[in-house]
Amino acid sequence: MAQLWGGRFTKETDQLVYNFNASISFDKRFYAQDIRGSIAHVTMLAKQGILTEDEKEKIIDGLEGIRRDVENGSLPITEEYEDIHSFVEANLIDRIGDAGKKLHTGRSRNDQVALDMKLYIRDEIVELDGLLKDMLNVLLKLMEENTETYMPGFTHLQKAQPVTLAHHMGAYFEMFKRDRSRMKDIYKRMNTCPLGAGALAGTTYPLDREYTAELLDFDGPTLNSMDSVSDRDYLIELLSAMSTVMMHLSRFSEEVIIWNSNEYRFVEIDDAYSTGSSIMPQKKNPDIAELVRGKTGRVYGALMGLLTTMKGIPLAYNKDMQEDKEMVFDAIDTTKGCLALFTGMLQTMKFNKSRMEDSAKHGFTNATDAADYLVNHGVPFRDAHGIVGRLVLYCIDKGIALDDMSLEEFKAISPVFEEDIYDAISMKTCVEMRNTLGAPGKAAMEKVIAIEKAYLAGE
Ligand code: ARG
Repeated sequence: MAQLWGGRFTKETDQLVYNFNASISFDKRFYAQDIRGSIAHVTMLAKQGILTEDEKEKIIDGLEGIRRDVENGSLPITEEYEDIHSFVEANLIDRIGDAGKKLHTGRSRNDQVALDMKLYIRDEIVELDGLLKDMLNVLLKLMEENTETYMPGFTHLQKAQPVTLAHHMGAYFEMFKRDRSRMKDIYKRMNTCPLGAGALAGTTYPLDREYTAELLDFDGPTLNSMDSVSDRDYLIELLSAMSTVMMHLSRFSEEVIIWNSNEYRFVEIDDAYSTGSSIMPQKKNPDIAELVRGKTGRVYGALMGLLTTMKGIPLAYNKDMQEDKEMVFDAIDTTKGCLALFTGMLQTMKFNKSRMEDSAKHGFTNATDAADYLVNHGVPFRDAHGIVGRLVLYCIDKGIALDDMSLEEFKAISPVFEEDIYDAISMKTCVEMRNTLGAPGKAAMEKVIAIEKAYLAGE
């Protein structure tokens, strides 16, 4: 047991208590951030004359040595230390002796852990943003390639009106684009440095908090020391944003699963992204999409977990907050993994375009356009709706599509129909006439593609 606080105690900690209290098994993942924060702290202490230049150099050399040795595997982070902060400090003292004992001057583990977590999360937000950007690039390519790939658009999972694959992919583009902007917002709001808050009430040493904030690329120092050590809002925001990413991925997964089903066959998932059955030789299962859908629950769980952990904590630091780490780490790992896998699956997935178009043709997705044709020829919309309803009934009875009816059959139901009805309800016309901004028509879609291309290029 290696603890930083034995002085006041007359008895050893019970082993079970020690294990229960320790966080090294999970906070070891931010050893690099802990060392970076410590280097900034001692640099500031020396600038303020609280440490000598010599002490500062010894400490920085020692810290860099620890980082190097952890990275090259010669210094494993073992569980005999209570947490990553104790591990670094104890190893520093072993290496450089008395100067190492000065590292913790004007600092508490409370502001230290708040700093480490922020440094760690900032890097993770950048990674999440990069993965979202990769997804957007794949979606943009699919949009560019499929402005004329017709498919049914659904409401209530019933065929509604024809759209294009570009348009459908464009919907996910907008979702993941908003996810990126949420990541940016969180980064901006959380980017203040808690170092110097001490345990909760600052310190009596003349620290320069602006300076450490600058050394660590923060926009500035936090403004209330109690809040600094007990704020976990940004983690809740991140969990919420990641839950939204997962919700989007889960909806997308559900669609891929449906599209990949034997009944739909709109897509074929690449062999590299599907799995077989141990008993049924014919099976090729969409396990990746199902797992992404399933893992959404873990990320939602973490959000609920942390909200609940935080809800009754009085100011300022309480050990409850140590619980933030495993939940947040697991949610980050899960979200990053799902984003990367889903993007790969999407990139390699084959779209069965003729099957999509055929499906759009056979679900009366052009019924609204047939009604609009009548309206354009002077029939009031409500009457037109009724006429087309009768056409649909007639077609269902005969097992044909609207396009398959002869002009005589059309005219038998309404004399307003003329030869140009076929063009008016063709798939191409149905889609291409929809050119309001944001609609699936090619001209409208191309405008959006140009906007999104510029957005991705302008990064
Ligand atoms: N492992 C602790 C955490 O994650 C570090 C802070 C410890 N502070 C304390 N006063 N015990 O929250």
